Amino acid sequence: MDAEVVFWPSGKSVRVRRGTSVLDASKRAGIAIATRCGGKAACFMCKVTVRPGSELQPIGDVERRKLAGLDEKGIRLSCQTRVSGRVEVDLPLDPLKAAVARQLARQKELEDELW
Ligand code: FES
Repeated sequence: MDAEVVFWPSGKSVRVRRGTSVLDASKRAGIAIATRCGGKAACFMCKVTVRPGSELQPIGDVERRKLAGLDEKGIRLSCQTRVSGRVEVDLPLDPLKAAVARQLARQKELEDELW
C-alpha cells in the first residue's frame, strides 16, 4: 500500500498498491463509478477528472486514443488510469442529481422573473 487516492467531492480516501486502477481504488473506498464494460476501456462511462499534481503511471495508447485529447484537460478513464502515488480525483455529478439541480435552478429563474 504505497499510493493514496482521494475522491472528491466527498474527500474520502483509500490507500492502495501502486499500479492499482482508479476504478479499483474507488471500489475499495466504497465509491461507485459507473461502468458498463467492466473496465475494458469500451463503454467510456467511467470518466473522472484527475487533479493536477496527481501521481499517475503514464497513459496507455488505448486510453489516449479513446480520450481523443480529453486527457489534456485532466479527464481520464478510471478503469485504465493507474496510480503511482498520491492522486486526487473529481467524480462526475450523479446524472439524476445533476438533472434535479438543473430543474431547481430553472424553477428559481422563473420565480425570480415573476417577482
Ligand atoms: S469501465 Fe468502461 S471504459 Fe472504463
